[in-house]
Amino acid sequence: MKIVLAPMEGVVDHLMRDMLTRVGGFDLCITEFIRVVEQTLPAKTFYRYCPELLNGAVTPAGVPVRVQLLGQHPQWLAENAVRAVELGSPGIDLNFGCPAKTVNKSKGGAVLLKEPETLYQIIKAVRDAVPKDQPVSAKIRLGFDDTSLALENADAITQAGADLLTIHARTKVDGYRPPAYWEWIAKIKEVTDIPIIANGEIWSAEDAILCQQRSGCQDLMLGRGALAMPNLAQTIKQSDAPMSWEQTKELLVSYSGYEIYSDKGRYYPNRIKQWFNYLKRQYPEAESMFVELRKLKHADDIVQMLTA
Ligand SMILES: Cc1cc2nc3c(=O)[nH]c(=O)nc-3n(C[C@H](O)[C@H](O)[C@H](O)COP(=O)(O)O)c2cc1C
Repeated sequence: MKIVLAPMEGVVDHLMRDMLTRVGGFDLCITEFIRVVEQTLPAKTFYRYCPELLNGAVTPAGVPVRVQLLGQHPQWLAENAVRAVELGSPGIDLNFGCPAKTVNKSKGGAVLLKEPETLYQIIKAVRDAVPKDQPVSAKIRLGFDDTSLALENADAITQAGADLLTIHARTKVDGYRPPAYWEWIAKIKEVTDIPIIANGEIWSAEDAILCQQRSGCQDLMLGRGALAMPNLAQTIKQSDAPMSWEQTKELLVSYSGYEIYSDKGRYYPNRIKQWFNYLKRQYPEAESMFVELRKLKHADDIVQMLTA
């Protein structure tokens, strides 16, 4: 079984990837999406989203990190995919799941699920441009408004030559509301022969087993669940017990060390508050601590509270 750490814009950056892959259980990470408009992005943009490129495109724990692109122009996506691969990204991931609204020229994400032909053109252009030994993966939802194009989209992605498909088992309109319709993934598997990764609403080892049974997929992607329980991947792979709150707090403190002294120090208070939002789901202690935490604006005060 392979487990992929989900891309999460504004939440899973290189520091979070470092921490979660140290905890273990992940085989691959995907970066937050990099938006592509009508230009080839400079190397510094790729390094900003994926500093691991400067270190062999692996996290310090040795887990590969693949760059994700979002956009609508096949040729510009292809050129930027080539650039990312030249900079070291092990293949390229294409985002067709982001629910964000269309912005001017940078339409992309889930809205393209209304256009199977555009999906085909994008994947084909990227597949043709990127060296054959570098995988091209796509990440989709079941559809935009509904699931009526789910099979057609999967077929378009397959025909265009994608090597791997991750399916977040909800439509754009479903947002992040439970449930995830894992059984839909099994239907999609009938029309494609490329490897599929199942994603959506996996919060525990029990959920993972149910998802595998209903989707017929071995391989999983974990997003919010991995933030709520940092060793979720190991509870799934090795039947480890969920991390205790004390262990999780130690992790928070070590993350604090990383964050404050990194280039992103000023984001630290917000990032940690976002993370607490997920931790509250698993740990009642996080809920009560959050009441205090939300009032704090300075990193030092937050660290003091965590270590008290
Ligand atoms: C805050 C947030 C940011 C996200 N950013 C991205 C992104 O940059 N690219 C992407 O493909 N999916 C993104 N997603 C979707 C997740 O990768 C994942 O598909 C979704 O959260 C469902 O998985 P989960 O139930 O395990 O969280 C994001 C989700 C959240 C909640």
